Amino acid sequence: MINILMCRPAYYAVQYKINPWMDTHIQPDASLAHQQWDNLLDQFKNNDVQVHLIDPQPELPDMVFTANAGLVFNNTFIVSRFRYPQRQKEADFFLNWFKERDYEIRHLPEQYYFEGEGDALFFKDTLIAGYRYRSDIHAHRFISEIIECEVLSVELTHPSFYHLDTCFCPLDQDSALYYPGAFDAYGVKVLESVIPNLMAVSDEDAHNFCCNAVVLGKKIILNQCSHSLKVMLEDMGFQITQLAFNEFIKAGGSSKCMTLFLENPRDSRH
Ligand code: ARG
Repeated sequence: MINILMCRPAYYAVQYKINPWMDTHIQPDASLAHQQWDNLLDQFKNNDVQVHLIDPQPELPDMVFTANAGLVFNNTFIVSRFRYPQRQKEADFFLNWFKERDYEIRHLPEQYYFEGEGDALFFKDTLIAGYRYRSDIHAHRFISEIIECEVLSVELTHPSFYHLDTCFCPLDQDSALYYPGAFDAYGVKVLESVIPNLMAVSDEDAHNFCCNAVVLGKKIILNQCSHSLKVMLEDMGFQITQLAFNEFIKAGGSSKCMTLFLENPRDSRH
């Protein structure tokens, strides 16, 4: 069974601007946001995913994006160090949640920022880690020492795709989606060196957060995508569920940002 951590959007709002998607004049509709979040929760429940919840906190509107809590590896939890002060207080709440459940807690050196699974995704046993806008490349070496896995650092080069999970999505043992506009040529080379079937998404799909998809075996949950992307994924044997996440895109996130996997690396279990 797959276990994930989510946080209800009880205090979700756009109260500050820390990425290009956020505009404090364009607020999410609270009841629509709840509905969209509930739809994601229902999808998980219908697919035998065990959903764990952390209490939302007033004044921490982005806590709904649990992918940024940290990185789970076996029974170890590496807690995030958020770059922006607006999100830094989230870390203690996430830390306590994992502490109470007997995870071994690891901290990174104070001077290095790291924003969790939002910037670190396993492709098989290799951790692909993004840096620049949120996480620091220096954090990657420490993560690699903790988890004893190869960590490949890729620089993010497009401010709208500020976390790795906005522009990269591992699908299975061979394949991943990525948005070429979010990486430099060398980053793409690095991805190509470990991923046999690296599939580019269009500008439009990228801006619709199609790389921010949740993959559950053969099932993919994502925001609206193009017909061609849907067909391409279906031809690979995936079942596509498109849901609206536009209220969360107002803060720069979609389905994957609201999902933290409680086991990693995921592919080793298949
Ligand atoms: N407003 C949030 C931020 O800028 C959105 C986080 C999206 N999370 C993600 N894993 N991409 O930090």
